[in-house]
Amino acid sequence: MTSLNDIRRTFLDYFIRQGHTEVASSPLVPRNDPTLMFTNAGMVQFKNLFTGAEHRDYSRAVTSQKCVRAGGKHNDLDNVGYTARHLTFFEMLGNFSFGDYFKDQAIPFSWELLTKGFDLPPERLSVTVYHTDDEAATLWKKVSGLPDERIIRIPTNDNFWMMGPTGPCGPCTEIFYDYGPDVAGGPPGSPDEDGDRYVEIWNNVFMQFEQFEDGSRKPLPNPSIDTGMGLERIGSVLQGKQDVFDTDTLRALVEASALATGTDPDGPQKFHHRVIADHLRSSSFLIADGVMPSNEGRGYVLRRIMRRAMRHAHQTGASEPVMHRLVGSLVQEMGAAYGELGRARSLIEETLKSEETRFKQTLERGLRLLDDELAKLPEGSKLPGEAAFKLYDTYGFPLDLTEDALREKGRSVDIEGFNAAMAEQKAKARASWAGSGETREAAIWFDLAESRGHTEFLGYDTEQAEGQLLALVRDGAELYDAGKGDKVQLMLNQTPFYAEAGGQVGDTGTLVTETGRAKITDVQKSAGVFVHFAEVTEGRIAKGQAAVLEVDHARRGAIRANHSATHLLNEALRETLGDHVAQRGSLNAPDRLRFDFAHSKAVSPEELARVEGLVNKFIRQNAPVETRIMTPDEARAIGAQALFGEKYGDEVRVVAMGRADTGKGADGKTWSLELCGGTHVGRLGEIGAFVVLGDQASSSGVRRIEALTGQAALDHLTGEAGRLAEVAAALKAPAAEVPERVKALMEERRALQNEVAQLRRELAMGGGEGAAPEAKSINGIKFLAQVLQGVSGRDLPPLIDAHKDRLGSGAVLLIAESDGKAAVAAGVTADLTDRISAVDLTRAAVEALGGKGGGGRPDMAQGGARDTSNAPQAIAAAEKLLEG
Ligand code: ALA
Repeated sequence: MTSLNDIRRTFLDYFIRQGHTEVASSPLVPRNDPTLMFTNAGMVQFKNLFTGAEHRDYSRAVTSQKCVRAGGKHNDLDNVGYTARHLTFFEMLGNFSFGDYFKDQAIPFSWELLTKGFDLPPERLSVTVYHTDDEAATLWKKVSGLPDERIIRIPTNDNFWMMGPTGPCGPCTEIFYDYGPDVAGGPPGSPDEDGDRYVEIWNNVFMQFEQFEDGSRKPLPNPSIDTGMGLERIGSVLQGKQDVFDTDTLRALVEASALATGTDPDGPQKFHHRVIADHLRSSSFLIADGVMPSNEGRGYVLRRIMRRAMRHAHQTGASEPVMHRLVGSLVQEMGAAYGELGRARSLIEETLKSEETRFKQTLERGLRLLDDELAKLPEGSKLPGEAAFKLYDTYGFPLDLTEDALREKGRSVDIEGFNAAMAEQKAKARASWAGSGETREAAIWFDLAESRGHTEFLGYDTEQAEGQLLALVRDGAELYDAGKGDKVQLMLNQTPFYAEAGGQVGDTGTLVTETGRAKITDVQKSAGVFVHFAEVTEGRIAKGQAAVLEVDHARRGAIRANHSATHLLNEALRETLGDHVAQRGSLNAPDRLRFDFAHSKAVSPEELARVEGLVNKFIRQNAPVETRIMTPDEARAIGAQALFGEKYGDEVRVVAMGRADTGKGADGKTWSLELCGGTHVGRLGEIGAFVVLGDQASSSGVRRIEALTGQAALDHLTGEAGRLAEVAAALKAPAAEVPERVKALMEERRALQNEVAQLRRELAMGGGEGAAPEAKSINGIKFLAQVLQGVSGRDLPPLIDAHKDRLGSGAVLLIAESDGKAAVAAGVTADLTDRISAVDLTRAAVEALGGKGGGGRPDMAQGGARDTSNAPQAIAAAEKLLEG
């Protein structure tokens, strides 16, 4: 039997031989189409090559593209399990020509591959062409020799392919396989074409036009080819099966599901296993491509798929979670062709397990409620909308899950009632929001969120993506468009730009539409909307346009490094200072990081060095950074750090960094584990380097550390080294000797200072060249007054004492000036303090010098003044006091 893996390879190799470049499947979340929920055809990644807006170095390509058709316009979710052909996940094989070959080569390629490469008997094949496409009909005739009745002209849109309301499009030809007369159904175009006998296996689109919003079409610069062959469909044909679930890959997953639940793959549980097999593939591939279960957007579609499968697993009677146990089989079947499955295996397993564990807690009760409700209802009537809403709101049952459960019982939901209950809940949320003190300007974002949905953030996985401009706002009012120089706030359905939160600043970058360009200067979150602050720099931008959004990569790279380093710093502080260290705030900007934490004393230089060393050790470890979604309780149970007093939602992101022998996390080997919604490096080595700038007090009991990473850290170190070199050059010493030399210089300076002070004292006492003045006798008191230049106030007390000793009995007044500051000191020997006070002498002198005050004891006092120009008057004032 030819396996699906062989068929895929045969297809790719055939077209490689025909000069095609093998291009990897693009991710399931399209980066270049804001209107598409998931990649749903092979041509999605090439959209702009057909229109000529983008060029690559190949003009022929071949791919096997992962596709999901759930949520969005193409939604096959409801049919999976009930039909032989519907899948939410499938692979589309396709060959593409971008202005290279056209119909005349595409048709022979298809025919040759089918009849020679895959050995299909020509008598089993039929084709359809668009009714006006004579060229294609003639080519088919020539290439295949098929009789006219098997080259069928179809006048409907079935043979005119459009990717959506706008974009590249053209007539197509479809190739059908005939399962033979034993199967019911007629050829395409016949009244019973919907039967299973004739199955479409390959669609070749002759891309010729680009369709615009107003319905008009323009010819493409170069006609092109886009084809799509469902691998599972051609697999069924080549493996002689009529049911995609009987092809080898899906059969292996059906059997894995049966084994895990201890049931028969072909017994009454058969249809549960089929749903599980399909949903396992779509969930796992979506998780591997960065989608995480959530209550909005793509994350909610993933959750719907997962929970739907989980209900089916539960229905098989399994008491424990099942889905995560099947991931190994999926990796075995498809891991060789899609390496991302193996790389993300543990993330997929944990995400499925956590979701199923949680959902199981309410699933049982929800299903009971459903049964009770049904028992109350008359036979055949619809489940009331409020009951479906209660299942949704309280038990976590997505609406389609409830519908799926009812379908088995031949019942349905009153959808209108459900929508009414949902609208009522929204109205309540609105009323409580209006009462929460938000400004009128912010109110518009609440309205926009309600009418146009929350912004989906793509920035964990990409820094460039397309988004649709849903609203332009200025001063709290909506605008239709904005022109050059206008400053506006923008809402997009999805964005790679991070909105400021959790200490991480908002992203900046550019937005480009068909008609204009804007600079994004900041992004803030309001009522679930990412508000992009923009300034239009060229042309005009308008509501409804598709916009290419590009984050400033270098800036985001620096922010990411700083944010990841903050987590490492937090853990390093805990390890160094103790578990009492708790985050009190942080800033993750492009140029630096700041971290505030509870700690009652300064962090010593040795502790800081240890912290810095630890962070750098983990940077060098270069372990991958891993993110998981879980409940706050689950996160705490595995030791994750949360911010004290912070209000977390039902689900949190948990970021794991670094490996350690005795660590945290499910495996006990994670070094840092924190609740965090920010963006981080892929591997710790990307941080590059980490340098602490210092520790300071932030508020009482809270310290603040500022630090640098990456280039900024290196620039800082280079700057420090430069300054050291300058000092070494000035000292004429090698850098290594600088500390010793500076210490020696400081000691020498201190000794010199002492020596100078000593010399000044000696000078004042009459030593050296200047002689000490003679003491006068006033009123029988020996009085000595002296003016000293170059002597500071603090040198005066020892001089006063020395003079007092010399006089034996008397009073002394010293007026000194140094560095532009004047000082006064007076002394009185103990025997005279009852007659005259040094404080009075000082004050009198200070006043005469134009100053004020002065104080001390009766035997010694000091004061300050502006200058010594009035020194003679000051001495006279003192003498006057002595005269009595
Ligand atoms: N783009 C074409 C399809 O999806 C081939 O059918």
